[in-house]
Amino acid sequence: METTEDVLIPPDPLNRVVGQDEAVGLARIAAKQRRHLLLVGPPGTGKSMIAQALALHLSPPNEEIRVVHNPESPERPLVEVKGREEALREVSALKGAEGELIDPEEVPISVAERLRYRCVHCGHYSPPSDAVCPGCSRPKAAVQNMGNPFGDLLSGIMEVTLGQMSQKDRVTTTRKQFGKEEVVVYERAGELVKVLDQKALEKRRKIEKESPHKVLVPLERHPFLLATGASETELLGDVKHDPYGGHPQLGTEPYVRVVAGAIHESHEGVLFIDELQQLGPLQRYILTAMQEKRFPISGRNPQSAGASVRVDAVPCDFIFVAACNIQDLPYVLSPLRSRIVGSGYEVLVETTMPDNETNRAKMAQFVAQEIAMDRRIPHASKEAVEAIIKESRRRAKEQEGKSGSLTLRLREMGGLIRSAGDLVVNESGDRIEASHIARAVKIARTVEEQIKERYGSYEGGLSRDLTEAQRATAPYQYWNYHESDDERYIG
Ligand SMILES: Nc1ncnc2c1ncn2[C@@H]1O[C@H](COP(=O)(O)OP(=O)(O)O)[C@@H](O)[C@H]1O
Ligand SMILES: [Mg+2]
Repeated sequence: METTEDVLIPPDPLNRVVGQDEAVGLARIAAKQRRHLLLVGPPGTGKSMIAQALALHLSPPNEEIRVVHNPESPERPLVEVKGREEALREVSALKGAEGELIDPEEVPISVAERLRYRCVHCGHYSPPSDAVCPGCSRPKAAVQNMGNPFGDLLSGIMEVTLGQMSQKDRVTTTRKQFGKEEVVVYERAGELVKVLDQKALEKRRKIEKESPHKVLVPLERHPFLLATGASETELLGDVKHDPYGGHPQLGTEPYVRVVAGAIHESHEGVLFIDELQQLGPLQRYILTAMQEKRFPISGRNPQSAGASVRVDAVPCDFIFVAACNIQDLPYVLSPLRSRIVGSGYEVLVETTMPDNETNRAKMAQFVAQEIAMDRRIPHASKEAVEAIIKESRRRAKEQEGKSGSLTLRLREMGGLIRSAGDLVVNESGDRIEASHIARAVKIARTVEEQIKERYGSYEGGLSRDLTEAQRATAPYQYWNYHESDDERYIG
């Protein structure tokens, strides 16, 4: 090998994980047999990477989840699960009712203005999301003078807000086609406008009448869902508020207001939660969802009209992958852990690997991967890779107290590679050399290390930086110890 350009990056994302053979092996099994996985260990060692790579080993989702209007009891919408084939067949049937997408400049001018594609002042076209016209910098919407009491001073602002308030995303008009008057609907569709003629409208109405439903979890979705630090509604779903309480004419039907949670969106895929302990009491719900493989969706805000709506038994058959640090294990709900062990695996990730030929080659692969992923830094020479290996040997000794090993705290090593690369780019070089690594190591020192260097010891620096009064209350100690004294959830 001359530079990292010659290093082969494995196509299988699980093979890109360096030094975690046990965890990677279990991830392969978990993907194949649909088992859960708890990864325990310090940050930056590849836990998230393993979880994502696992998801890419799953076959694509096969089911679409829908909520269907329940005419007998609108506040109890029903769940419908469609297989891939059936869902795709319906999509092609809907095609005719989809309407045509056209350029905003092709619709009648009055429609383009009402949908706010066209500026009423200068005739410039821009997406309706721009409230102010990029052509003349004036608010795009046509607003009649409503006797604004603030006079000219605020009129600009008022126009924008009033314009937004009165904005329409759908305009109904008529047009003459083949000598006959017919209804046409123009709808906003991002940068384009959707036109629904009489035929498309009839078809749409018919389909809507036949099976009023909402797709909750679409067939085409990513098999990996990150729900770290999710709130209760994000995790479990919700039913949105309707000021008209779902009144049949004025309001929005309850089934339309149902929103899926992360547990449902990860159906057939991976639900990944980093820092599992942070979920606190919500861990209980995950346990239930894992056991039942279905979980109801209901309005979670008791003050909202959504609270009276509930959809039972919404499927949520996910592979649960979670990660946490060793010191957070006591805050992981114990029945949840026993559930993971019962149908999955717990694994302590490695923090070092032996310093041998094979693993040094793996470090070279890691360097090549980081450079390929970053895209903004040049390749590294053989000597630079050797310097990185030397640094990872030093860190294994210093951080883990292990000699003859290489560190696997690779996020930080990645940072080192990137700062070395930045130095090269900054100096208009075209290759990372050993000297750049040496300089980056110096830059990458922690503040504690820098203090030690400047003042001889960490404590020495501390005493210079504090007044007498501060020293008495020892703020560092306060923050370090109080965090775990919090009222956190203990399973
Ligand atoms: N074992 C590893 N093999 C290869 N790259 C790694 C490894 N561990 C960490 N990295 C690099 O560091 C980044 C952060 O790792 P991550 O998986 O988020 O760590 P964790 O989830 O354990 O905190 C990854 O995107 C990858 O670039
Ligand atoms: Mg992570």
